[in-house]
Amino acid sequence: MRRDAAERYTPFVTLDPEAFHAFEQSGWERASAYYEDAFGTLTPQTAGPLLDAAGVSPGRRVLDVATGPGPIAAAAAARGADVVGLDFSAAMIAEARRRHPAIAFREGDAEALPFDGSSFDAVVMNFGLLHLARPDTAMAEAHRVLRGGGRYALTVWAPPEEAVGFGLVLAAVQELGNPDVPLPEGPPFFRFSDEAEFRRTLEHAGFSEVQVRTMSLTWRLPVSDAVFDAISRGGVRTAAVLRAQTPAALDAIRASVRQGVERYKKEGVYLIPMPAVLASGTKAR
Ligand SMILES: C[S@@+](CC[C@H](N)C(=O)[O-])C[C@H]1O[C@@H](n2cnc3c(N)ncnc32)[C@H](O)[C@@H]1O
Repeated sequence: MRRDAAERYTPFVTLDPEAFHAFEQSGWERASAYYEDAFGTLTPQTAGPLLDAAGVSPGRRVLDVATGPGPIAAAAAARGADVVGLDFSAAMIAEARRRHPAIAFREGDAEALPFDGSSFDAVVMNFGLLHLARPDTAMAEAHRVLRGGGRYALTVWAPPEEAVGFGLVLAAVQELGNPDVPLPEGPPFFRFSDEAEFRRTLEHAGFSEVQVRTMSLTWRLPVSDAVFDAISRGGVRTAAVLRAQTPAALDAIRASVRQGVERYKKEGVYLIPMPAVLASGTKAR
């Protein structure tokens, strides 16, 4: 029997959120050098719909949480918004400042935002939620710093059956390696890929007029090893699972992912479907 979203996720408790938070933070410091090469043409594809959903327009005060190298903050600034990008990785913030010197970036935690209440017209977070030890707390924090009537918009990856890059790597680990390596336990990576769960959690955090939809994104890659390389260097959780494999298993996983990617070759490039789930909500006036 299919359980509903609330029943499936409510009992979930991260046993040691501090350990998971520290694991993610050190992972992002490490991944920052590779992130732009790995995901730099993919994650910014959501910018237009994400900023539209958050009502970002000229003069609006906007917070981009988990900004990474700052692609969404840059897109908001290009719309004439007054934007701040925030990330807990010092290396990511350094990279964002280097790429976008005219934009304000600061180090800080999505789960404890360093801003007064009611200080932003819009808060956005592009592919940040699925890395958090306490995503519900981050939603409550976004709600606190928004003014009444302000909009919150955020994205996560669609489930691995649809976001093919992740699906290929996870299936290969399952089949050819060991998926149960000892890592700090975090919330389920694909929890918010479930549209009903995304909606429920936003409403629980106090948002109204919640909208959730799936949008298609395409990862355009020059070589068939690019998916494996991106996920093993430019990410954190799956990268750590891959690093824990034996050399033989890792070779087999890489070969399997490469073979899977070959199916998506079109006119000399690889076009990998990587849909995202976009959700948004309003803080009541
Ligand atoms: C997948 S990247 C997304 C970067 C960017 N938003 C984009 O669209 O490409 C996730 C980012 O979230 C940041 N992050 C993860 N947990 C965080 C937290 N608790 N507080 C602030 N930033 C966090 C990481 O440092 C990383 O830069």
